[in-house]
Amino acid sequence: MKITELSKEKLNKYTSSSFLFDVRKTITSTNSVLKEAAKLGAPEKTVIIAEEQTSGRGRLGRSFYSPANTGIYMSLLLYPKSENSDTLFITTAAAVAVCRAIEAITDKKAGIKWVNDIYCDGKKVCGILAEAGYLSGKLNYVVLGIGINVNTEEFPEEIKQKAGALGDNICKNKLAAKVLDEFVNIYENGNFIHEYRSRSILTDKIVTVSSAKDNKNAKVIGIDNECKLEVEFSDGTRQLLSFGEVNILMNI
Ligand code: BTN
Repeated sequence: MKITELSKEKLNKYTSSSFLFDVRKTITSTNSVLKEAAKLGAPEKTVIIAEEQTSGRGRLGRSFYSPANTGIYMSLLLYPKSENSDTLFITTAAAVAVCRAIEAITDKKAGIKWVNDIYCDGKKVCGILAEAGYLSGKLNYVVLGIGINVNTEEFPEEIKQKAGALGDNICKNKLAAKVLDEFVNIYENGNFIHEYRSRSILTDKIVTVSSAKDNKNAKVIGIDNECKLEVEFSDGTRQLLSFGEVNILMNI
């Protein structure tokens, strides 16, 4: 198995946009460290990228398994100018960017499990966590965190069933660079909701909607223009679910 090492020179070589790369062997969490840097005024498009995270974080307070040398763990700093560029817009744009990059660099097909998980061959290969910082009640920065399992072979018991990896002989520098370039392209030019929708792996599936209150099965109808998930419960009632409110379990 060929293991590629992350390198600032290669990342710079493969990206078309100008990013400020900070490459680390190991880090607690690229999102946590970049959030601290943002508070100190780090420039836009600073990217912290690491070979390993010791406290990688996922959505809903979960941890993100980030073992050494087998994945891409990176965070990108943005200072959105428009109020519309909230964490949902950025998360969904990033999901499309990751899918395009995976398909450009590997021979895999990539799909999106609403709202922020990327799946290949029925397994989750990437998670996205966008976190916002506010100043005087206004959106100041967003840290976009992306974790991709490139050639991770062993996963902990609790995620073994659903986690997967992209495979061997993938250049992590090329893949990370492509994700960043695709993201900037979408972020700056917008209009990706059709592609997000067409990549949705949940549409027409029966899922379990878990909220703080209860767990209910529902059929996924689709995704609306605001990226809400429309589901239909067994009594025929429909509901639009917002990012952050619920957890969707796929009933495979
Ligand atoms: C999820 O699956 O719920 C989201 C996972 C996001 C993981 C990435 S890895 C880089 C960045 N740093 C973190 O601590 N988390 C994100």
